[in-house]
Amino acid sequence: MEIKRNILLNPGPATTSDTVKFAQVVTDICPREKEFGDIMEFVSKELTSFVGSNDEYTTVLFGGSGTAAVEAIISSVVGDNTILIINNGAYGKRIVEMAEIYNLNYREYNSSPTEEINLSVLEDLIKAHNSSNEKTHISHLAVIHHETTTGILNDIKSIGEICNKYDIEMIVDAMSSFAGIPINMHKMNITYLASSSNKCIQGMAGISFVIANKESLEKTNSIKPRNLYLNIYKQYLYFKDNYQMRFTPPVQVLYALKQAIIEAKKETIEKRYERYEACCKILWNGLDKLNLKRLVSEKASSMLLTSIIEPKIEGYSFDSLHDYLYNKGFTIYPGKINSEDTFRIANIGQIYPENMVKFVEILEEYFIAIVKYQK
Ligand SMILES: Cc1ncc(COP(=O)(O)O)c(C=O)c1O
Repeated sequence: MEIKRNILLNPGPATTSDTVKFAQVVTDICPREKEFGDIMEFVSKELTSFVGSNDEYTTVLFGGSGTAAVEAIISSVVGDNTILIINNGAYGKRIVEMAEIYNLNYREYNSSPTEEINLSVLEDLIKAHNSSNEKTHISHLAVIHHETTTGILNDIKSIGEICNKYDIEMIVDAMSSFAGIPINMHKMNITYLASSSNKCIQGMAGISFVIANKESLEKTNSIKPRNLYLNIYKQYLYFKDNYQMRFTPPVQVLYALKQAIIEAKKETIEKRYERYEACCKILWNGLDKLNLKRLVSEKASSMLLTSIIEPKIEGYSFDSLHDYLYNKGFTIYPGKINSEDTFRIANIGQIYPENMVKFVEILEEYFIAIVKYQK
C-alpha cells in the first residue's frame, strides 16, 4: 500500500518511515502476554542504551504524551527538598507550573529565551541558597535540553558540572533532543531524563518515558507518592518484575517504537544528528537568500529547529504561508514566544537534505508570488 508522504516540519510528532508506520499493523495481542513483555523489555533496554548503560540506568515507560514523563519526574523525585527550575521558554515554564500544582519547594531561574544561560549567575544562586539558612537545600535542578519554543540548545554538560559540584540531581527534559543529539547521561551527570516516542526517535505518539539513574530512583522509594498513575518508582517496580506497565499500554505504538529503535540504531545517533544538521544548513542558506532572519544565534541553536522572525511584507501572513506549503506536502508551525512574531521550522524526523532543498524552493516560490501579487 502506498502512503502519501507528508513532510512534517513542526517540532513533532515528526515524519516517520513507512516501515515504522506498518510496524503497527500486527495481530491483536493482550499486553499481559509474555510475547508483548519481550517487546517492552527490548524497548526499555534499547532506549537506555542510547544514553547510558543498563547497569546504571533504567527506562520507565508510561502511556501518555511527553508531558507525562516530565510530570512523572517532577512529582516523584523531589520530596520535601527544593528544586531549582531553569525557565528559558514555554517548557521550562511548564515545569514551574507543575511545581506549583504539586506544591513543591521550588526556585525559578529565569533566563532569556534567545540567549545562552549565564552559568556563573546560576552557580552563584545555587551557592547562595545552599549556604543560607533556607529551610531546604536545592537537591534537584530541572532544565530543558532543547527548548523547542525557540530552538535554543541549553548547555546541559556545563550545568551538569555545576550540579555535580553542589551534589544536585539534574533532571533534563530532552523531549526534542533525545535520539537526535548525542547524550551521555553519565558523563553529563544527568540523573533523570524525559522524552517521548514521537520526536527524534521517529516513532508514533503515545509513549512517554523516563530514563533514571537506578540508584537515585531506588531512593525515591521513601517519598510518599503525589499521584497514582505517574509515580516513577511504582511503575519501575512493577515493570522490573513483570516487564509490563501497571496500566494499559498503547500496544501498537510500542510495536512502532521497537521498529523506530531498530532504525535509529542502524543509522546511529551521531549520523542522525549529521543528517539533521545537513537539513538545517540547507534551510538557513535558503532563509539567508530570502533575507528572513533567525531568532537564535547560530552558536546557541540546536540546529534541529529554527525560529524565524516573521517578515513585514504586505500580503504575508503565517496562515497563507502555512496553507501554501501544506498544499504542497510540507507542514510548518507557528511561533511560541510573545516578544517577537515568529514561525518555526523543525528539521527532525525521517527527512533528508533533498526534502529541505524542495522546501526552500517552495518557500521562495511563495514569497515571489506574494510580491508579484502586490505589484
Ligand atoms: C522540550 C519539550 N518538553 C515537553 C514537551 C511536551 O510534550 P507533549 O506535547 O508530547 O506532551 C515538548 C513538546 O513539544 C517539548 O518540546
